[in-house]
Amino acid sequence: MSSDQFKQAAAEAALAFIETGDIVGVGTGSTANFFIDGLARIKGKIDGAVASSEASASRLQRHGIDVLSLNDAGQLRIYVDGADEATRHLHLIKGGGGALTREKIVAAASDRFICIADDSKLVDRLGTFPLPVEVIPMAQSLVARSMVKLGGTPVLRSGFETDNGNIILDVENLEILDPAEMETAMNQIPGVVTVGLFALRGANQLLLGGDNGVTEITA
Ligand code: 5RP
Repeated sequence: MSSDQFKQAAAEAALAFIETGDIVGVGTGSTANFFIDGLARIKGKIDGAVASSEASASRLQRHGIDVLSLNDAGQLRIYVDGADEATRHLHLIKGGGGALTREKIVAAASDRFICIADDSKLVDRLGTFPLPVEVIPMAQSLVARSMVKLGGTPVLRSGFETDNGNIILDVENLEILDPAEMETAMNQIPGVVTVGLFALRGANQLLLGGDNGVTEITA
């Protein structure tokens, strides 16, 4: 089976956690797209969705699913999103699609974060995937120098602007021994909008599609 089929299997498994009357927090990326397509089949059961990107909002709306602002929706019961890397401790790297800021906001406003992925995303230690960091444009070189001090090699994601009008630095070669500590340290750098480390608020549950079906990892 292909990685797309594994992603789809994980996304389909997440549908079982949706309850009647939910306003569903919805992530971004190819795995989240499979989830959105599945959500369309049960749209009569939900009261709408909050999207973590313009792209996901458009896809939801094309399926006839109401998209609410997070401010109108309030606290959500459930958020479903993909990841670029995940550990058994439910720490994640996210932001490969550049939507990390809104993803972190929706995750923080949700009681339960279900992370869906193909099982190639499961790693022992985060950091092989370059860490996306959303940065206010005028702070690009300041933040880049700070990332070098932390041991990383920042690379500007060229030709890319986030939904919030900012840039992304993809930071390579980081040794992420303590994800929560590194997230906290990076959060202190002026000009950093969001770090793609999701450790302070990780996932509650991983659903990983693979050769043996969908594996569930919970804290
Ligand atoms: C977008 C994300 C995605 O969840 C992450 O990049 C995984 O994407 P995909 O499901 O396409 O593998 O964080 O900002």
